[in-house]
Amino acid sequence: MIPANLISKKRDGHYLSKNELSDFINNYLTGSVTEEQMAAMLMAIYFKGMNEDEIFSLVQIMIDSGSTLDFGGSNRYIADKHSTGGIGDKISLILAPIMAAAGIKVPMIAGRGLGFTGGTIDKLESIPGFNSSPSLNQFKKWVDENGYAIMSQSIDICPADKKIYSLRSKTGTVASIPLICGSIMSKKIAEGISGLVLDIKVGSGTFMKSIDQAKELGSWMKKIGNLFDIKTDIIFTNMNQPLGRYSGLACEVEESIECLKGNGANDLIDITLELGSSLMIQSGLVRDRNQAIDVQKDLIESGKALRSFEVSVATQGGKLEKLKSSTKPKYETLILSKSEGVVNTFDTEEIGWALVELGCVKKRKQDDLDHSAGIEFLKKTGDSIIKNEPVYRVFNSNKKTLDNAAKMLIKTINCGKRHADQKLIFDNA
Ligand code: URA
Repeated sequence: MIPANLISKKRDGHYLSKNELSDFINNYLTGSVTEEQMAAMLMAIYFKGMNEDEIFSLVQIMIDSGSTLDFGGSNRYIADKHSTGGIGDKISLILAPIMAAAGIKVPMIAGRGLGFTGGTIDKLESIPGFNSSPSLNQFKKWVDENGYAIMSQSIDICPADKKIYSLRSKTGTVASIPLICGSIMSKKIAEGISGLVLDIKVGSGTFMKSIDQAKELGSWMKKIGNLFDIKTDIIFTNMNQPLGRYSGLACEVEESIECLKGNGANDLIDITLELGSSLMIQSGLVRDRNQAIDVQKDLIESGKALRSFEVSVATQGGKLEKLKSSTKPKYETLILSKSEGVVNTFDTEEIGWALVELGCVKKRKQDDLDHSAGIEFLKKTGDSIIKNEPVYRVFNSNKKTLDNAAKMLIKTINCGKRHADQKLIFDNA
């Protein structure tokens, strides 16, 4: 295999066979295909796309690059949720314990920051001691004991995704339907699940900017789910403004805890319960959506979902009692509105890049994350605003990057006359 020939073949829009893709990816894992060559291949895929055979092969090759989990013999439904990534999207942290408390097992393999979107693992690692890289046996034991556990892509599970994911983030090749399908579906299939709900985000703060693109991605994910015999539901949700009240690292863990205490922002809790309802209906634990919503609300009100979260974090070594003191930001500033009226839209992608600047996503491999960093959203779309009223509270522990992010954020608010309300959850048809 000559890597440059395969890159040229894809660059010119030709089909790559399963053997060709497999040679290219496996040689990348051993180091004989270089970072530059993989970056060029990813860009060629980004522009030329992949056909059905190539997408299915990509998923299979990513799965075969590592081990898979097997929960054979479990008397519980095994399922998971995954999101295509957004700003302030902390739903995995909230939904997994609710599902575990409901009796569904969730072996969640999650990602780090990607492009301008934050990663579940980076958020969880704000908790001192949290172990996101257990051995597979350890992970399975935690899932069996507590009903759920969350680990990062590792050298055991989908190592090809781990390596390619980080390169995509640095090479502007995230927003590619075949690459998103390969990345998400390989991790989920390797978990040994029977059911999956995908939260496909649509709008300015995510990779699929239009509902048509999002639907195309959804139909591919569903085809892959069917091929691997996984019940797959897709929910399309609005990412034209950040989700919930905060986006960042430790602050999103704290907001998730508030949500599990019953104090969640409406948009956050509505989407969480919708995704949870899909899994609960798939599992057969409930008759319909209404019952699924009631059960989930009860699990929050009774404190069982919060307890599930606390037990799981402690099992993974996390010391929640040290979260606040160890992630206290050194600096903060308010971003004030320059105009008045009603907040109509946000440039949510730019908010994401401001979060990257603050230290919530790595720009380069050698960078450190700033777990104290984040943004509090003091206004949401539809809110009235007067001149000089605060829109964002921004915080981190590095004055220079805080100032840079503050400059970026000033341009992200768009107010004027009231626009029609946007849907939070789009129709599935
Ligand atoms: N989440 C993933 O795990 N992979 C992607 O490509 C996008 C979101």
